[in-house]
Amino acid sequence: MNTLETEIVAQLLQKLHQDAEAADHEYFKSVMAEIETSGETAEDWAAKLLIDEKAGLRSVYQGFANHFLAVSANFGRFLYAMVRASKAVRIVEFGTSMGISTIYLAAALRDNGGGTLIGSELEPSKVQRARAHLKAAGLADLVDIREGDARETLVNPGGPVDLLLIDGAFSLYLPVLKLIEPHLRPGAVVLGENAFDPEYLAYVRDPARGYFSRMLPIDEGRGNEFTVRLP
Ligand SMILES: C[S@@+](CC[C@H](N)C(=O)[O-])C[C@H]1O[C@@H](n2cnc3c(N)ncnc32)[C@H](O)[C@@H]1O
Repeated sequence: MNTLETEIVAQLLQKLHQDAEAADHEYFKSVMAEIETSGETAEDWAAKLLIDEKAGLRSVYQGFANHFLAVSANFGRFLYAMVRASKAVRIVEFGTSMGISTIYLAAALRDNGGGTLIGSELEPSKVQRARAHLKAAGLADLVDIREGDARETLVNPGGPVDLLLIDGAFSLYLPVLKLIEPHLRPGAVVLGENAFDPEYLAYVRDPARGYFSRMLPIDEGRGNEFTVRLP
């Protein structure tokens, strides 16, 4: 069984990726132009966003209220495969946005026989839209999207966590990992999408912290860090 291949989910994802492209194209184009003209690297650009976030997290993300900033279909399919391979039943997602990544993860939970996905999103309008998308996909019963700051809403994930997707504010990758860390089951997978924060990368790559971590060669340049909580 592959829920991603059902007509309802496949058509919805196709439409949502098109909507994301329409909503975000100009923004991504301007970022690429800024990087090219300034001679910066993607990491330099990400470092500036980290500084902006530290000055005012809510205002940065209010500015993105109509942007999807979603994973690619390619990465979404990888998420689906990871959930199936790890037989995950409890997933935590930092940064739900409009729910595209959530649909890939929840579809895999469905095909694993059920489970719970705890999402988190700061922007109320995005929470509404994500819930509507999950309902349209027929996956709402598996998903609990918690509105507000993930540092508060994810304090209690309700049980051992099999997979954590970190895809929220760049500056909060490490705080959110540390929040969920006591709940990670041995062998849990942590995926950092846009993991550019040097402190986060140093932490998960330090063998003394109990992880094994590498950058994935998927959507190269987007900073897809793959981490396993070593048993
Ligand atoms: C890159 S987008 C997530 C994309 C989504 N995972 C997908 O692939 O469809 C990041 C999201 O994190 C949210 N966010 C940022 N800081 C947050 C926080 N402290 N708590 C909860 N959500 C936050 C933003 O509002 C934004 O919608």
